[in-house]
Amino acid sequence: MNPVIDVLAASEIDHLEGLWGQLLAHHSKKAPHLAELGALRSPAESWRLRREQYIEWLREPRTTVLVARDGDRLLGYAVVRVLDAPGSWQWGDQVGVLETLVVDDDARGTGVGQALVGAARERLAELKVQVMKISVIAGNEDAVRFYQREGAVDFVRTLVMPVSG
Ligand SMILES: CC(C)(COP(=O)(O)OP(=O)(O)OC[C@H]1O[C@@H](n2cnc3c(N)ncnc32)[C@H](O)[C@@H]1OP(=O)(O)O)[C@@H](O)C(=O)NCCC(=O)NCCS
Repeated sequence: MNPVIDVLAASEIDHLEGLWGQLLAHHSKKAPHLAELGALRSPAESWRLRREQYIEWLREPRTTVLVARDGDRLLGYAVVRVLDAPGSWQWGDQVGVLETLVVDDDARGTGVGQALVGAARERLAELKVQVMKISVIAGNEDAVRFYQREGAVDFVRTLVMPVSG
């Protein structure tokens, strides 16, 4: 597939709801162990919260929502931000964060994800950012392989535990 990559305007954010729902379903399938700490939110509630976050992030001028299109059809999207994060490694004082990447179920395995990651990296390079962080839900090994093919390496390992009980 040869998708067209565009920047999505904040006013069009609701177009992402269906793809966000697919990502939620994917996480639910890949990480059932997390439900032991608390059930997954409903797709509508999860989107309501994520939508608010996107709108807040889009107030930062360097936040970008990239979409892959085939005509009128939305094939996937990526959200990338830039944070001030000077750290122990000399990666510059800002770091890019890939907040979301999802490709429509029917378009997976056709290079759409690669095109979106490529566009996110180009955007960050324009902003003089050297490194992009990515968080992957534990159990989503397909996505880890995908990112490693794109050049990603292991960074932080995040764990969660219940506070009481
Ligand atoms: C991970 C993802 C963004 C990669 O995008 P893509 O356009 O499918 O990328 P590619 O065409 O290079 O395919 C990459 C991987 O996607 C997976 N894939 C391919 N077809 C798939 C399908 N029909 N359903 C699910 N996963 C599929 C495969 O695991 C493939 O990797 P593998 O060959 O090592 O097994 C995309 O598969 C996706 O949206 N997955 C579900 C959501 C997700 O995991 N997002 C990342 C969250 S951090």
